[in-house]
Amino acid sequence: MSVLKITSLIIISSVLLHTQSAGDLYFAVMPHRVTALKGSCVQIPCTFNIFNFEDKIQKTRSIYGVWLKKISQFTHKDSFIAFNGSQNIIKGFSDIQMIGNLSEGNCTTVFYDIMKNHSDFYFFRLEMEPNVFTAIFNTNPDASADSSKTVKIDVTDSPQPPELKPSDLAYMMENTTVNVSCSAEAPCPKLPPKLSWTNIPKPAIITTQLQEKPDKTLSVFSQITFKASYMDHRKNISCTVTYPRNTSNDTTVETTMMLRVLFPPKETHVIIEPSASVSVGTNVTLTCKSKANPSNDMNYTWYKHGQDSPLAGGQKISFTVNNTGLYFCTAENKHGKVSSEQIQLTLKGQDGPSNLMIAGCMGIIVPMLLFSALVLSLGKKTFKKSTANDPSGEDLNTHVCYENTAIMIVTAKQDILINNN
Ligand SMILES: *[C@@H]1O[C@H](CO)[C@@H](O)[C@H](O)[C@H]1NC(C)=O
Ligand SMILES: *[C@@H]1O[C@H](CO)[C@@H](O)[C@H](O)[C@H]1NC(C)=O
Ligand SMILES: *[C@@H]1O[C@H](CO)[C@@H](O)[C@H](O)[C@H]1NC(C)=O
Ligand SMILES: *[C@@H]1O[C@H](CO)[C@@H](O)[C@H](O)[C@H]1NC(C)=O
Ligand SMILES: *[C@@H]1O[C@H](CO)[C@@H](O)[C@H](O)[C@H]1NC(C)=O
Ligand SMILES: *[C@@H]1O[C@H](CO)[C@@H](O)[C@H](O)[C@H]1NC(C)=O
Repeated sequence: MSVLKITSLIIISSVLLHTQSAGDLYFAVMPHRVTALKGSCVQIPCTFNIFNFEDKIQKTRSIYGVWLKKISQFTHKDSFIAFNGSQNIIKGFSDIQMIGNLSEGNCTTVFYDIMKNHSDFYFFRLEMEPNVFTAIFNTNPDASADSSKTVKIDVTDSPQPPELKPSDLAYMMENTTVNVSCSAEAPCPKLPPKLSWTNIPKPAIITTQLQEKPDKTLSVFSQITFKASYMDHRKNISCTVTYPRNTSNDTTVETTMMLRVLFPPKETHVIIEPSASVSVGTNVTLTCKSKANPSNDMNYTWYKHGQDSPLAGGQKISFTVNNTGLYFCTAENKHGKVSSEQIQLTLKGQDGPSNLMIAGCMGIIVPMLLFSALVLSLGKKTFKKSTANDPSGEDLNTHVCYENTAIMIVTAKQDILINNN
């Protein structure tokens, strides 16, 4: 307890000592630098304090402010008095208005129709007449970093793009509530920039307001609040800011950010090739498709309806069809696992297709064999050249049907072949 008291005493006394040191009998506070947009206005937030100000106000008949450009000594031959509030004399500017109430220590000033040659240091001087107080505040522009005492106006033709926060939205989880804010400098609060959002998730709550920064300059601040959906993944959202200007066209600046939403598999479905209705012996490939993020470490598993154990893993499986069946897959990433719908694999030409086909083939095979034997024996000499390089030349005509029957026989014993990729 006593330690606390002593500490606060030390702090108070050091503050007092500091305040009473010669240069601090009066001081003004304004931003170090302000970036103004060419063709717009710039408002300099400014407050000052003078020792015994209340008493001095009592004795004062006239109080006015003066703004000096570049040089802090108004007696200097190169001094440039941009503004003298006494008779509202304005030099080098189309207009300057002291909007703060000087009697309350408020020297906030607006400089209008900013031009390139207005970039400079500006010094504030207060005159309280008759002979009560006159001083230029904080005359040293190179003073230590903590002295926000003179203001430097930087004139730019292109404003800074707005700032989006958080700038790194790499990992927003699906269904969480997300806030994204956009802020843009508003150096001229009379003509504040217009801020708008594009391509933002719906529904989103948008709030926009003028906000004061620690150095009292203003910015337009807008926040959107939305629930992250997987549909928003990779969406580019933009914040666009338009600065109205008097002289030239309005200036628009924009910042874009890509949303990245983490989500378990979605829209999981099976693609069947060549078709869901095939003849016995056809190779079919089933592919498990899904959207997910992350999607690089996906696990796929295949099932056949009625079988407890999975058929296989892998995004694709291929097998030679020997029967109908209902198939489905599951897709899994680290955020969850989702099943596809079941797809029905059917056989073309039901009613014992094998027998029909074999019969059909047999019907062709006999005349074909006879025909080709005839051709071969008749044309041995004539066709020799053309068949010489074909080892299966003799079976040419029967080949197709023979292969079909062979497959039917073989596949009857074949297991489902699985492609693990
Ligand atoms: C401002 O104008 C008043 C009245 O004309 C004058 O007395 C005063 O000296 C001027 N201040 C400066 C710094 O020039
Ligand atoms: C800036 O330039 C304009 C003309 O381009 C001139 O009228 C004005 O006085 C200049 N202002 C300053 C502060 O030098
Ligand atoms: C100074 O005056 C301006 C303009 O009227 C006002 O916006 C601002 O809030 C005032 N500052 C303080 C510290 O009172
Ligand atoms: C979003 O922006 C990035 C980078 O500019 C681009 O590559 C991507 O195609 C854009 N996305 C969409 C959905 O337009
Ligand atoms: C059928 O699929 C199996 C296994 O993937 C493969 O070895 C075979 O070559 C395929 N047959 C045809 C005619 O595509
Ligand atoms: C079809 O293949 C399955 C699995 O490979 C096998 O168990 C089944 O006996 C076959 N069906 C027929 C009708 O041959």
